[in-house]
Amino acid sequence: MTTRPIHGGNLNWAAQLAGCSPSVILDFSASINPLGPPDSAISAIQRGVSSLQHYPDPNYSQLRERLAPWHQLSASQWVLPGNGVAELLSWAGRELAQCDRVYLMTPAFRDYTRALKAFGAKMSFCKLDVPQMLNQVEYRHDFVIDNPISDNCGLILNNPHNPTGQLFSREKILPYLDKFALVVVDEAFMDFLPPEEQESLVGDVENYPNLVVLRSLTKFYALPGLRIGYAIANPQRLQQWQQWRDPWSVNCLAAEAAMAVLDDAKFQTQTRDWLQTARSRFYQDLKQIPGLTPIPSAANFFLVATEMPGSQLQAELLKQAQILIRDCLSFPELGEGYFRTAIRQPQDNEKLQQALLKVMEKQQIG
Ligand SMILES: Cc1ncc(COP(=O)(O)O)c(C=O)c1O
Repeated sequence: MTTRPIHGGNLNWAAQLAGCSPSVILDFSASINPLGPPDSAISAIQRGVSSLQHYPDPNYSQLRERLAPWHQLSASQWVLPGNGVAELLSWAGRELAQCDRVYLMTPAFRDYTRALKAFGAKMSFCKLDVPQMLNQVEYRHDFVIDNPISDNCGLILNNPHNPTGQLFSREKILPYLDKFALVVVDEAFMDFLPPEEQESLVGDVENYPNLVVLRSLTKFYALPGLRIGYAIANPQRLQQWQQWRDPWSVNCLAAEAAMAVLDDAKFQTQTRDWLQTARSRFYQDLKQIPGLTPIPSAANFFLVATEMPGSQLQAELLKQAQILIRDCLSFPELGEGYFRTAIRQPQDNEKLQQALLKVMEKQQIG
């Protein structure tokens, strides 16, 4: 048996537990848009095949020139494409490690500590109060980060927050830019919100040289296997990152697909419409299941408090229904008391709801 995964989406591990082939598993563990990838991305990748015999442009000028106006930035140098947010976190981690201490909100996406540990950063963890959220019906949430120990400290925030799905207001984040020497805001899931509801800090980057915003194209456009994301930050900082990394981190197919999906307004609208309807229905359905309490979410996933240990529930669902949810054992603050589930198409959500109902009712009777 391979070791328990620390990220979602590990179908080989799940298939071993379920005793089936990986292709049979219905995956709710990775929070990927079920409507994608969009046709625009697939066509761009097909077109891009003819450029495989060339190295990509190491400056990614064309892609940067598309991304900058898309975010109303004054010049393309404010954007740096990366091999997913995960790659860019490494360079953010290298810079943050130069701070006296780096503050993180927990529970946190596991890759933050990977990147920080790789460069020997000293870390402080500030706990987001998850249990209190169980009583509220709103996904907007307040948070508090401890005061930094010096004027040379770093901060990593994630908005909307994985795994809780909470959305923090831009106004609540801004004061931390005056307190911390370097602030990295991971907005990997921000695209799932309608533009008027987004709380992005992209528009503040040109005013704050100590701000880095990270955006991913892998969740919203369902391209996790392609690897594409970007950082928005001060051009000098991004130039430094470029000098640290290998010259061609982003492959030419990923660059082509990224340019194509930016203009795909139809897919963007379809996704936001699907999410709004599917999320509220799935929330109501999950709430009806004895022993489970879903937490309202601004994103395309729910954190769910469970009376049955999360890893046991995960194993039961795999064996009985070949469905994979994300246990929360790799978030030490959550442990066995929670699981996370993606929001998928209504018919899939219903399959999970039925399977959960069966397992949880059996436990209540037993
Ligand atoms: C909060 C958060 N940031 C970043 C990532 C990684 O994104 P990418 O696929 O762009 O590397 C993930 C993936 O799960 C995530 O949950």
